[in-house]
Amino acid sequence: MKSLLIFLCLAMVSSFTSSAQSQRLSGNSFLPAELLALGKDETSNPLSLWIDQGNEVWAAKCQECHGKMSSMAGAVVQFPKWKSSPSSKGQLLNIEDQISVCLSRKSAQKWTNDSSEVLAISVALSDAAKGQRIHIAAPHDPVERQAWQEQINLAAQIYIKRQGRLNLACTQCHDQKIGIQLRSDVISPAFVTGFPIYRQSWQTAGSIDRRLRACYSGVQALVPPSGSPELRGLELFLKKRSEGMVWDGPSIRR
Ligand code: HEC
Ligand code: HEC
Repeated sequence: MKSLLIFLCLAMVSSFTSSAQSQRLSGNSFLPAELLALGKDETSNPLSLWIDQGNEVWAAKCQECHGKMSSMAGAVVQFPKWKSSPSSKGQLLNIEDQISVCLSRKSAQKWTNDSSEVLAISVALSDAAKGQRIHIAAPHDPVERQAWQEQINLAAQIYIKRQGRLNLACTQCHDQKIGIQLRSDVISPAFVTGFPIYRQSWQTAGSIDRRLRACYSGVQALVPPSGSPELRGLELFLKKRSEGMVWDGPSIRR
C-alpha cells in the first residue's frame, strides 16, 4: 500500500524537472537553508570530525609517500579510475578503494568504503578538493580503454532499467521527478559533486557506495554488495555525466 502511494506521488509530473536537469544543479540545490548553513559552519558541521580524523591519519600513514594532502586532492575529481597490474586485467577503483589499497601497504587489514579510517581520509581529501572541476579521463591503453567504456555502457543500461518491487529505473526519479518530495527527501538529478555525505537519516557519514545501495533498497530491489563492479560502473557513469561541474566537497544530506 505504501509502495503504491509512493508510486502515485511519483507519477505526478513536475515542470521543475527539465530546467533543473539543463542547469545541472548539484544535490546542494535541493537542501533547505538550515542544512546548507550547517554545511558551511565549521564549528557545527558534523563532517569536521571526519576531516580532523582524516588529516591525522594522512599525517601518520600517507604523508611519507605522498607529501601534503593538498597535492593529492586532484584525485578526488578524477576517480573512479581503471587500475590494472601485470597480473590482472584490472578493475575500476573509486577513491575509497584506492585509499584502502594504500592503507593495506601498511597493514593486512580488510577495508570497506565505509570503514572509519577510509571514510575519514576520503572526507578530508574531498574537502581539500573543493572548487576543482570534475574531470574523468579515459585510460590511454587501448585494452583498458575498451574495458572502461564497457563499464560505462553497462551502467547506462542499468540507469534506464526498471527494477525492484516499485519497478522504477534511476532515470525515472533522477531525470523525470526532479524536485519532487519523496518521504523526507527531495529528488535531485543525481550529479555526483559532493561525496562522502553526512546523511541525517543515517546519523553518520557514508560513501557514494552506500548512497547508491540506499537507492536500490528504496525501490525494493536486490541490493548489490558493497564494492561490486555494478556500483563502480554506476559511479563512473554518474561522474562522467557530472563532467566539468564544480566539486562541492563533503556534503550534508537529509
Ligand atoms: C609506501 C608508499 C605509499 C603510501 C604509504 C601510501 N601510498 Fe598512495 N600510492 C602509492 C603509489 C605507489 C601509488 C600509485 C600506484 C597505484 O595506482 O596504486 C599511490 C596512489 C595513490 C592514489 C591515486 C593517485 C591517482 O591519481 O591515481 C591515492 C588517492 C593515494 N595513493 C592515496 C593514499 C592515501 C590516502 C594513503 C594513506 C592511507 C596513501 N596513499 C599511502 C604509494 C603509497
Ligand atoms: C524512487 C526514486 C529513486 C530511484 C528509482 C533512484 N533514486 Fe537515487 N535518490 C533518490 C532520492 C530521494 C535521493 C536523495 C535526494 C537526492 O539527492 O536526490 C537519491 C539520491 C541519489 C544520489 C545522491 C545525490 C546527491 O547529491 O546526494 C545518487 C548519486 C543517486 N540517487 C543515484 C541513483 C541511481 C544510480 C539509481 C538507480 C540505480 C537511483 N538513484 C534510483 C531517489 C531515487
